[in-house]
Amino acid sequence: MSIRIVLVVALLLQPGWSPAADFKPKLPAGLQEDAAQIPDDNPITPEKVALGKKFFWDTRWSASGTVACVSCHRPEHGWSDSRRFSTDFAGRPTPRHAPTIVNRLFSDQQHWSGLRPSLEEQAGKDVNKTDEKVMQQLGTIPAYRAEFRAVFGRDFDPEGVAQAIAAYVRTILSADSPYDRFQAGDRSAMSLSAQRGLRLFEGKAMCSRCHAGFNFTGEGYRNIGVGMSGKNPDLGRYTVTGDDPDRGAFKTPTLRDVARRGPYMHDGSETTLDDVVAYYDRGGVKNPWLSSDMKPLGLTAQERADVVEFMKALTGRIDPEVSRPPDLPK
Ligand code: HEC
Ligand code: HEC
Repeated sequence: MSIRIVLVVALLLQPGWSPAADFKPKLPAGLQEDAAQIPDDNPITPEKVALGKKFFWDTRWSASGTVACVSCHRPEHGWSDSRRFSTDFAGRPTPRHAPTIVNRLFSDQQHWSGLRPSLEEQAGKDVNKTDEKVMQQLGTIPAYRAEFRAVFGRDFDPEGVAQAIAAYVRTILSADSPYDRFQAGDRSAMSLSAQRGLRLFEGKAMCSRCHAGFNFTGEGYRNIGVGMSGKNPDLGRYTVTGDDPDRGAFKTPTLRDVARRGPYMHDGSETTLDDVVAYYDRGGVKNPWLSSDMKPLGLTAQERADVVEFMKALTGRIDPEVSRPPDLPK
């Protein structure tokens, strides 16, 4: 897929701004503009984002009329779900825990296994599942039809719905955290414990081998042993590629906003951040595909607490423009 780096997204973070030729956009502190991934055929505009936001919130397109994207990706819960397993559009439990969707701007493949090659495909599959509903319930509402036409210049269709949702999801960002202010030179932004945690994160605890870079993920698939002690474990990335080394490998999630969104891991098996760090300290669950970067760490109780403090310093500023529920057309 040809990817163009577009910075229009930053405009959306500054209500009232409009694109100007000499405009130098800026993402919030801590994010890298040149890492943004926006497909050529789905540029971001404020109008498209506003429309996508409505679809994200509107429950009228689920079979039951009770579920929307926001039901499982809740802004006040780090855009994740507090339930271990969410209930899907048809009212059945999902097999995996709903991941956060912050900072998807910086990744192409989606899902714990990378099953969906883009945000458009991700939203598109959900739309397809409920195609009829989307067309009947939303596509017949005059205000939606008019807004859709203004954005896409054509009649309401499922592809546009998916594109609008993807554009909105790209504006859901986490940044400007105590860690970012610390990195920018404010030595008081992080507690001493969090500062020790940062050194451990990059050193003895080896976290940054996988949670690397400004978004605290290399977007890679790794087997860290989660769920591997079960009888028929979820094989994660392997279910997409069929490659033996991918057995039990899952996408490394961003750690930004992580303190807002337990339970953790693809199966929601770890309840708190203390539990997560204790899990890594044990070296994960042994299995033939366990990453060579997983080893018992020998952390002291203080060191484990410091790593947790550091992760809490990755909690970003909430942007009310993005997270406030929209007014839905009647
Ligand atoms: C019933 C709960 C539920 C609903 C409703 C839901 N999701 Fe999800 N979402 C999940 C789960 C569970 C996953 C993980 C799926 C997997 O990895 O197999 C997921 C994964 C994702 C991802 C991938 C994130 C990543 O880091 O890989 C994105 C993006 C996303 N959802 C956006 C949406 C959008 C947009 C909608 C509405 C069209 C939506 N979701 C509706 C539960 C839900
Ligand atoms: C070998 C690569 C690797 C290393 C090393 C690693 N992680 Fe992870 N991390 C992952 C992967 C992959 C997942 C998702 C696993 C799953 O769901 O099965 C994950 C998940 C997490 C989660 C859950 C996030 C969420 O949204 O559910 C947290 C928190 C976390 N890691 C913190 C850490 C910390 C702290 C360290 C260091 C002590 C660390 N990780 C070391 C790869 C790694």
